[in-house]
Amino acid sequence: MRTFLVIGFVLALSACQPPGPTYAKDIKPILDGRCVNCHVAGGVAPFALDSYENAKTYAVQVADAVEKGRMPPWKAGPSDVTYLRNPSLSDEQKATISAWAKSTDQGDVKKPGAALPEIGGGVTRVDRSLKMPAAYTPSKTPDDYRCFVLTWPETTRKFITGVNALPGVPEQAHHIALYLIPADAAMYPVMWDAEDATPGYECFGGPFGNRPQQFAVNLLTAWIPGYSGTMFPRGGGIEVEPGAMIVMQMHYNVQNARGPQLDQTEMQFTLEDTVQRRLAYQPMLDVAWVGQQMEIPAANPAVVHQLVSDPRSFFQLLGSPLDNTNGFNIEAVMFHMHKLGRRGELILEKADRTRLKVIDIPAWDFHWQNEYQLSEPVRFEPGDKLRVRCTFDNSAANAITTNWGENSDQEMCVANILSSVN
Ligand code: HEC
Repeated sequence: MRTFLVIGFVLALSACQPPGPTYAKDIKPILDGRCVNCHVAGGVAPFALDSYENAKTYAVQVADAVEKGRMPPWKAGPSDVTYLRNPSLSDEQKATISAWAKSTDQGDVKKPGAALPEIGGGVTRVDRSLKMPAAYTPSKTPDDYRCFVLTWPETTRKFITGVNALPGVPEQAHHIALYLIPADAAMYPVMWDAEDATPGYECFGGPFGNRPQQFAVNLLTAWIPGYSGTMFPRGGGIEVEPGAMIVMQMHYNVQNARGPQLDQTEMQFTLEDTVQRRLAYQPMLDVAWVGQQMEIPAANPAVVHQLVSDPRSFFQLLGSPLDNTNGFNIEAVMFHMHKLGRRGELILEKADRTRLKVIDIPAWDFHWQNEYQLSEPVRFEPGDKLRVRCTFDNSAANAITTNWGENSDQEMCVANILSSVN
C-alpha cells in the first residue's frame, strides 16, 4: 500500500515537471553538428560520439569538456572581432548537455531535433594534389614532428586560394602546418631531407628543425583535423612562384591502441592565375627575441614578453610580397608559441588611442594551433601600432631557464598575420 502511494507520488511529480533534454531531440543534433567530425571511428579523437550508447558512456566527460570549453577545440577567447567558422557552443547548449548528462534520457528517436546550422568549410575545387613523396611511420610516441618536402609542380605563377588535407591516417594526424619556401631557398629543405634515408626530417617549431634559420619563414596555412579544408577569406590568394617548395610539417600524435601506422598524407589546393586580393602571412615579432633577448627564467609562472610597434618596415625587411606603405588588412591570425605558452594576444592600438583586441587566446594549447579568420578584416593604418603579447609559465618542477629557439624546450612568440592591402 505504502509502495503504491510512493510510486503514485513519484509519477505525479514527474508528470508535472517540464520534460528534460533527451538525446534524440537535444543532444544528437549538437554532437552531430560539432563533435562527430572528429569523434567517429577512425577519426582524430580517441572515442566516437555518434550513437546514443557512446554518448551515454561518455556523458559525464562530455559535460565537463563542454562546460570548461575544452571541446569543441576552439581556443580564441572573447575579443573585439568575430571569427568565421566558430564552432563554440552557446551557454544554453552547454547547460542542455550538463542537464542531460544527469538523466541520459534517449527520448523518441522517431522525433529527432533540428540539425544545427553548418559552420562551413571545405574547398570549392581541387586543382592540384601533392602527396608525401614516400610513406612514413611515426617513430616517436606520442608526438612525432616531421617535415616533408613537397615539390611545387606548377610552371607558371599561381595563387593558392584554398587548402585541404587528406591525412593518410586521420587518427594520428593531429596538426599540419604548411610553409612556403621561395625558389632561391628551395635547396635547404631538400638537403635536410637527404641527411638520412628516412623520409622527411625532424622539425618541431617550424621548417628548420634545430638548424639555424636560413631564410624568412613564409607560413602558408595550418590545418587541424575535423575541418574539411578552408578557402582563404574574401577570395584572396597566396602567390606561389615556379620552383618553390612546400614544407609540410606533420604533428603526429599516436594515442590509439593500434600504435603508429604508415602514413602518406596528401594536400589539396585550389588555384587561380589571378586574384583580386593578394594575401601573405606577415609575422609580428621582436627581432631582439630571435637574438636571445626573450629570456624565460625557470621557476616563474607568468613571464610576459611583448612588443608594441608599427611592424610595416619589419615586414618589408623580411621580403613581404605586399606593399604595406598605406597600411594593411588583418584577415586572419595564427599565433605561435611552444609548450610553455599560456596566453597569446594581438591588440591593435589606433592612432586615436582606441584599442581593438584582434585575438586573445587565454588558455594557449600547443596541441591546438589554429588559424582564426576574421569575419570582417581589421585595418592597420599608418600611425597605428600593434601589440603582441605572450605569457609563459615556466614553473614546472624540472624547469630550466630558456629563450627563443626552434627546439621543444625553447620558446617562440609570433602572431602570424594573414594580411592583404586592398
Ligand atoms: C577538431 C576535432 C574535435 C572536435 C570537433 C571535438 N573533439 Fe573532442 N577530442 C578531440 C581530440 C583529438 C581529443 C583527444 C584529447 C586532445 O587531443 O585534446 C578529444 C577529447 C575529448 C574528450 C576527452 C578529453 C577531455 O578534454 O575531456 C571529450 C570528453 C571530448 N573530446 C568531447 C567532445 C565533444 C562533446 C565535442 C563536441 C561538442 C568534441 N569533443 C569535439 C577532437 C575533437
